[in-house]
Amino acid sequence: MTKEQREAKIAELNWPEAPKLVTSLPGPKGLEMFQEAMQWETIQRPAGSVFPIAAAESFGACFKDVDGNVLIDLAGGVGVKSTGSCHPKVVEAIRKQAGIQGHAVDFATPIKHELVKIMRKTAPNGLKDNCFLAFCQSGTAAGETAIKQAKMITGRNQIVVFEGAYHGVYGHTNAMTTGEGYRHGYGQLMPGIVHLPYPYCYRCPFGMEYPKCDMQCAKYVEWKINTPYTGVDDVAAIVCEGLQGEGGYLVAPKEWWPMLKKTAEKAGALCVCDEVQSGFGRSGKLWAAEYYDFDPDIEIFGKGVGNDMPVTGVMTDSKYWDKLTGQSQPNTFAGNGITMAAAKANFDIMLDPEMNLMARANELGAHFEARMKEAQKTIEQIGDIRGVGLFRSIELVKDPATKEPTDPNLFNELLPAIYSKGVLSIPCGKFANVMRFMPSLTITQEHFDKALDIVIETLGEFKDKMAGKK
Ligand SMILES: Cc1ncc(COP(=O)(O)O)c(C=O)c1O
Repeated sequence: MTKEQREAKIAELNWPEAPKLVTSLPGPKGLEMFQEAMQWETIQRPAGSVFPIAAAESFGACFKDVDGNVLIDLAGGVGVKSTGSCHPKVVEAIRKQAGIQGHAVDFATPIKHELVKIMRKTAPNGLKDNCFLAFCQSGTAAGETAIKQAKMITGRNQIVVFEGAYHGVYGHTNAMTTGEGYRHGYGQLMPGIVHLPYPYCYRCPFGMEYPKCDMQCAKYVEWKINTPYTGVDDVAAIVCEGLQGEGGYLVAPKEWWPMLKKTAEKAGALCVCDEVQSGFGRSGKLWAAEYYDFDPDIEIFGKGVGNDMPVTGVMTDSKYWDKLTGQSQPNTFAGNGITMAAAKANFDIMLDPEMNLMARANELGAHFEARMKEAQKTIEQIGDIRGVGLFRSIELVKDPATKEPTDPNLFNELLPAIYSKGVLSIPCGKFANVMRFMPSLTITQEHFDKALDIVIETLGEFKDKMAGKK
């Protein structure tokens, strides 16, 4: 298939007219529904707290609101929509399976069996054809499963995680997640969780510069875990995101993971890679772990694997199979046939060599980088541009020399301004100053460029505000 033929097929997976506004945003119907939802559904849900969105339909990298406005989603449903919304092959698989079998009490089923075979075959190094799977319905539950397994396998209690981490919001994962908003007010957090500095090279916690730093951050993890009298002496697992998401869309240097693995091995702890956000093609490889020369003991997956359906879980090294107690981790909805069928269809799409969506993610990612570098020449508040594949971000600063983060309230104005022009983009970062870009891997080049035009134009309009002048 030529590039032109591939792009023509991609175009068929999206609404060509996006972005198309037929009302100002939010439109009247959307505003009414949003306001009611804000009263009738819990205020704890972040969705919609900044943007008054009432979404009616989605297709590819686009969605339509209840007033008929067509928007481009640069957030990909928070990194979920790898193959795009309502991909016809996924819809067909869901329809077909809905007439065969949905709920199946996590029995062995033909559709789950097919999916498991593909996932084992394409697992990250070390787990390829050498792992067993557990399915869940949220990234949080998958994280909990991984931690329970690590504790039972090792007989240990401590979990080492990293500053800026997001792993979920219940039990262990809530204590592992670092955003204060998710932790405060819910009582005592799970004990035994140790946070260590993450390689945030733009703002190195050790005040050093890569590569002159000689990976001081990874050496500190080694020191903390494998030196007496540090208080970290009972480690079941070191858990790290494949690429750090919520904490700022950070990419650790290539030496990071192999050094962690060595540290974990020396301590007799497991290495757990959380790829809920970085996985399933988003990084330009099926698993971000493949960028690094290391083998995870447990790989956590979620988001893009199910795309339009909730499919998450863990892949665990086969050598640990008999270290776990039988029937000790039930999950009523695990292996639901319709979700398995959707995931199987997603794998078929992602692994299709003709479409080569992962290579396309790299192409679009490189294009993003080039465009942002160009924009940076006139908008100096774009302090850092980073990412791999279609896992991309820009970090905004008042002044590139001081790297002082922009006002944490800036996004309450900047992101709605972008949204009002028909593009949804969402923030992240410890200082609420990072814009993340993780659209569907099936976004058209034209939509991507139109969306970036809008983002860059709006950043230009906000230059003084970003600099803290107004
Ligand atoms: C790395 C990572 N782990 C876990 C989770 C939790 O996933 P969920 O919201 O599906 O529970 C997320 C969600 O954003 C994530 O980014």
